Amino acid sequence: MKLAKLLPLIISDKERHAKWLNTLSLMENTGARKISACEDPLTVTYIVLKHAAEEHRHAFYLKKQVEKTGDSLCPTYQPAYLLAPTQSRYYLNQLDIDVCRYLKNELGVKGQELRFAAYLLVTYAIEVRADELYPLYQEALEKAGSRVNVKSIILEEEGHLEEMISQLKNFAAEWQLHAGKAVELESRLFSGWIEALAADLSLQ
Ligand SMILES: [Fe+2]
Ligand SMILES: [Fe+2]
Repeated sequence: MKLAKLLPLIISDKERHAKWLNTLSLMENTGARKISACEDPLTVTYIVLKHAAEEHRHAFYLKKQVEKTGDSLCPTYQPAYLLAPTQSRYYLNQLDIDVCRYLKNELGVKGQELRFAAYLLVTYAIEVRADELYPLYQEALEKAGSRVNVKSIILEEEGHLEEMISQLKNFAAEWQLHAGKAVELESRLFSGWIEALAADLSLQ
């Protein structure tokens, strides 16, 4: 199952669409909170602060877009207001766990160093995914003539990927090897998420 096939099914039904936006909002919020959690109180940089602020904005902006789907509101992140609630929560948390395990085994890092390295790799993999997912979603929205739009998110996510690459270059000379591993771990989890979404949509 491919996301491009699911998107028209999601957008054509206002309740599903509201839940989809709320689910993306949850995932952005999870990402934002993870970035904030690995900030070092003394050495946090402009880039990290900017990144956390923008991910928090994405969560808020997507929540706000729910209004455009009609009167089906998703007031909270409780399971009834999400698509594939269990997998949607699992995806980012598990990616964090998988990347931390990889970093401990391969680089032997721990403590704050591990937290920062995990931030770099997890976020890189997510930005690669975001740069694929949001343009696909925007295209499907335009095809369906929807009032929802995610263009401002697309712009910021492109900037994030560039920022992650420049931070990764400072982190390790062989950054591409580690980043490739993170993308591999993410791809497996993303496929599981898409399967769960498809299963959830067929039930609704
Ligand atoms: Fe984002
Ligand atoms: Fe981002």
